[in-house]
Amino acid sequence: MSISVCRSAIFVIACLTATAAHAAVSFEKDLLPVLTKKCIDCHKAPYEENGKKKEPKAGLRLDASWAIVKGSENGPILTAGAPDKSAIYESVMLPKDDDGHMPPKGDDLTKEEIALLKKWIEEGADFGGWIGSTLGMPAGAATELAKPHKPREHELFYTALEKEVRPLSDDVLAKAKAAGAQVAAVKVESPLVRVDFLTGVSKCDDEKVAAILPLKENIVQLDLGRTVVTDAALKTIGQLPRLISLDLRQTKVTDAGLESLVGLKKLQSLNLYGTEITDVGLKHLAKIKSLKNVYLWQSKATKAGVKQLTAAVPGLKATVE
Ligand code: HEC
Repeated sequence: MSISVCRSAIFVIACLTATAAHAAVSFEKDLLPVLTKKCIDCHKAPYEENGKKKEPKAGLRLDASWAIVKGSENGPILTAGAPDKSAIYESVMLPKDDDGHMPPKGDDLTKEEIALLKKWIEEGADFGGWIGSTLGMPAGAATELAKPHKPREHELFYTALEKEVRPLSDDVLAKAKAAGAQVAAVKVESPLVRVDFLTGVSKCDDEKVAAILPLKENIVQLDLGRTVVTDAALKTIGQLPRLISLDLRQTKVTDAGLESLVGLKKLQSLNLYGTEITDVGLKHLAKIKSLKNVYLWQSKATKAGVKQLTAAVPGLKATVE
């Protein structure tokens, strides 16, 4: 498999084992062509057509990095590290019949393109020096963007964890793949991995999750959103010592199951959107002091419960309703 194939497809195990093929997402190479083809017609600098001035839809331009950072008439559309808080990602994930679904007409993004967009945001939404259109660019924006990329706190955190683990063997990877897991290095040459079952969420059950246990030392991100896992899977997950980010959105997990997670010492981000979790479950989460973000939209948790949780874990942000 060639490097370019790996870079444009969802990261599969074949890419992980091919040397240096599992590079970080490049905005310019991987995402710009997609946005140019499927978004820019409606989201570019004002122009004239048949004597009429055309403004970008929602005041949002996607033809320049500074404009993407600036956002729309409603505010920012991108939060580095958090696809769930980035309208640019959420809009392409909305159901097709939703008014906010992007693009409103023409070809949708493919699954692979959506996965790349998500990964790029998770990796810190770095434009890698790309500026794009300078039309209408505010003074100072260029120098701001040209500043050398400072290592972010989370990168330093990952670097420290990398020193603790060895790369996964091909044998272990093959078994995880057989269970339907997609395993991808979090960045070039890192032994730390992200695991998801995005190619078969409806088949991902507790047993499939148990099959990733041999990778437990290396897993830092796990996406089980929309899968059919239950509390039994949380028992497995409670054994992943370096898990930093866990997505359980729209699954059948319950309050009782969350107790299995209290031993996770590195867990920072937990997505419980659209689950049956109540304030009772939040009491378990209050014991995970490393938590920084808990997403609880459309769960059964209340504002009062969230208040107690954030009081118990300093620095934790939780969003409910
Ligand atoms: C055919 C025109 C068209 C195309 C193509 C299009 N958009 Fe939009 N976009 C719109 C319109 C119209 C709105 C305003 C929708 C509304 O207010 O409900 C909008 C709104 C948005 C918003 C919300 C802005 C905000 O904060 O209110 C985002 C984000 C967005 N588009 C991203 C995209 C992305 C990403 C693509 C490509 C995948 C895309 N759009 C393609 C017309 C388009």
